[in-house]
Amino acid sequence: MSTPSILILPGDGIGPEVMAEVVKVIDWFGEKRDLKFDVSHDLVGGAAYDKHGTPLADETMEKAQKADAVLLGAVGGPKYDVLDFSVKPERGLLRLRKEMDLFSNLRPAQCFDALADFSSLKKDVVAGLDIMIVRELTSGIYFGEPRGIIKEGNERVGINTQRYTESEIARVARSAFELARKRGNKVCSMEKANVMESGILWRDVVTEIHQAEYADVELSHMYADAGAMQLCRWPKQFDVIVTDNLFGDLLSDAAAMLTGSLGMLPSASLGAPMDNGRPKALYEPVHGSAPDIAGQGKANPIACILSFAMALRYSFDLGDDATRLEKAVEKVLADGVRTADLLGEDGATPVSTSEMGDKIIEALTASL
Ligand code: NAD
Ligand code: IPM
Ligand code: MN
Repeated sequence: MSTPSILILPGDGIGPEVMAEVVKVIDWFGEKRDLKFDVSHDLVGGAAYDKHGTPLADETMEKAQKADAVLLGAVGGPKYDVLDFSVKPERGLLRLRKEMDLFSNLRPAQCFDALADFSSLKKDVVAGLDIMIVRELTSGIYFGEPRGIIKEGNERVGINTQRYTESEIARVARSAFELARKRGNKVCSMEKANVMESGILWRDVVTEIHQAEYADVELSHMYADAGAMQLCRWPKQFDVIVTDNLFGDLLSDAAAMLTGSLGMLPSASLGAPMDNGRPKALYEPVHGSAPDIAGQGKANPIACILSFAMALRYSFDLGDDATRLEKAVEKVLADGVRTADLLGEDGATPVSTSEMGDKIIEALTASL
């Protein structure tokens, strides 16, 4: 087999800072575990706009389509607030997701023991937490037509459309059921079937797929607003949550705080299998470009590093190496190493982004 390819798109703000630590990790696996990747770098988001006048150049899109895995840092920032909507940094990321057809976005929320005290929720609510939010990523209100801002009489009207086809719901439901079978065997589907027709269809299709193909998996349904409440009340009741694009965006940010910090949450966006049987895939932290701390060496690189662990598992069938990397992160946290987002106001000294990366490399080396 030819050397697997990775396209790195660091993006904006803290994106390049956290991605630099991932590059150290990739180099470590190359040197110490003989895992060779054909790595290339390109621009996305505001960085691409600055160079090409577009948040994703066509050549970059083509490279992403061909890569075995794409790693993305983050896009966006106040500098680009003035841009026309069509060329905003976020459009670059949305184009990648849509054109690569990455319909299943896996957002795990795991609470490492060492951080159980640090969550804003009580320790027993979060200790040992391990849930997986599966967010539909290529449809729903993010992409539905009609959309836009139109003039109606004397005033402007902002329009977005929530739209889901049966097949779009079915494929993300299957991906959630498949994952559940490898975990706690439970799926909770969240929508608002009480007020939205797309929610009624969502519930029907998930139920049909369940009865026809996954009756061995435990399925429950919840309105998404109640689901948000339950996520804060007792998150350990969940194993896999499957939900639409917008609800998944909100629920996964909320779930981040169960783990201690948004800087901890990785994600994998997966599409249909390619010729080699592996899914088309893009890996990125759940967090954004964090303009408030960008350029200060304060960002937590763990979400981005754990996103690479997901790449090892889902794109390269290297589950043992993914676990090795996750354990190294766990070890460093257990040793009390903390970036600023993982510290309270108690005066302890945080490590910088690159020091955190170095500590994780040390823990990897110690694992050999
Ligand atoms: P954000 O995730 O960038 O930041 C929210 C808060 O979390 C900030 O206080 C930030 O400092 C903190 N934070 C986030 N990541 C962190 C990390 N790794 N380490 C330490 N602290 C971290 O969200 P926002 O401020 O709402 O958005 C900023 C920009 O990022 C916007 O342009 C938004 O559109 C974009 N965004 C991009 C992505 C992405 O690229 N996938 C995701 C979310 C937001
Ligand atoms: C995310 C982000 C994106 C989203 C933006 C930046 C397009 O918030 O990945 O969670 O809304 O999906
Ligand atoms: Mn988001």
